[in-house]
Amino acid sequence: MTTNSRIRAESLSRRYRSGATDVTVLDDLWLDVREGERLAIIGSSGAGKSTLLHLLGGLDRPSTGRIYFGHRDIAGLSEAALADFRNRELGYLWQNPSLLPEFSALENVMMPLLIRGVHREEAATQAETRLDEVGLQTRKFHRAGELSGGEQQRVALARALAGNPRVLLADEPTGSLDQRTGEMIFSLLADLHNSHGLTSVFVTHNLRFASKCDRILELKNGRLETPVEGDWEPAGIAGDATRLGGGTYV
Ligand SMILES: Nc1ncnc2c1ncn2[C@@H]1O[C@H](COP(=O)(O)OP(=O)(O)O)[C@@H](O)[C@H]1O
Ligand SMILES: [Mg+2]
Repeated sequence: MTTNSRIRAESLSRRYRSGATDVTVLDDLWLDVREGERLAIIGSSGAGKSTLLHLLGGLDRPSTGRIYFGHRDIAGLSEAALADFRNRELGYLWQNPSLLPEFSALENVMMPLLIRGVHREEAATQAETRLDEVGLQTRKFHRAGELSGGEQQRVALARALAGNPRVLLADEPTGSLDQRTGEMIFSLLADLHNSHGLTSVFVTHNLRFASKCDRILELKNGRLETPVEGDWEPAGIAGDATRLGGGTYV
């Protein structure tokens, strides 16, 4: 293992049983994410991007293979240890912000800290700082359900970073936002990646965003590969729809 490797996946596979047939989604997949790297993962719909992110995030277990965070093999952790590891080390951002609508923005961001056992007052102070960082200082006491889609995603980002994780996993976080709001979330992700010293894995359909990350890998036939240069041109793409390597991207 290289010393500056933050996440390493070795020969991962993930098979699903669907009726009488086995579906192999990931197949002998290898990945090294360097400390501090911002990695974009692209791939056609159904390629297995979310499956991979769930495995890396300890939300699902591989059929075979190992996943290391630093020198720790997360496959070897018990359910309780894995839950604690997720809460301390990882931040997640999904396409859908999944906030608790009846609770305030502040309470939503405090939640992972309270689960971790941080005292209420301290949790509130930290959550306020996170909300300031995403530009929502004036929305702290709004109920989450009353915020706009972009504001909800900003709360979700503040929540993801509430516990100062080392790694941020984001699965199409701009996928359901309009172009302008998506730009704003992407730019916040970039700023916070730097200011929090994160290692980020960012699944996206937006090749223009992907091209601004440190590295792009394409998930194809169950494995990650470097996209062939010249097969895609991020500069000319206005929205989230484009084609790469002959595949259709939605
Ligand atoms: N729980 C599951 N049971 C059976 N098949 C699944 C399950 N989750 C995902 N799949 C299948 O795995 C494939 C990859 O899905 P997914 O990781 O969501 O792709 P992506 O995020 O790239 O669009 C799809 O064919 C999907 O139907
Ligand atoms: Mg997906």
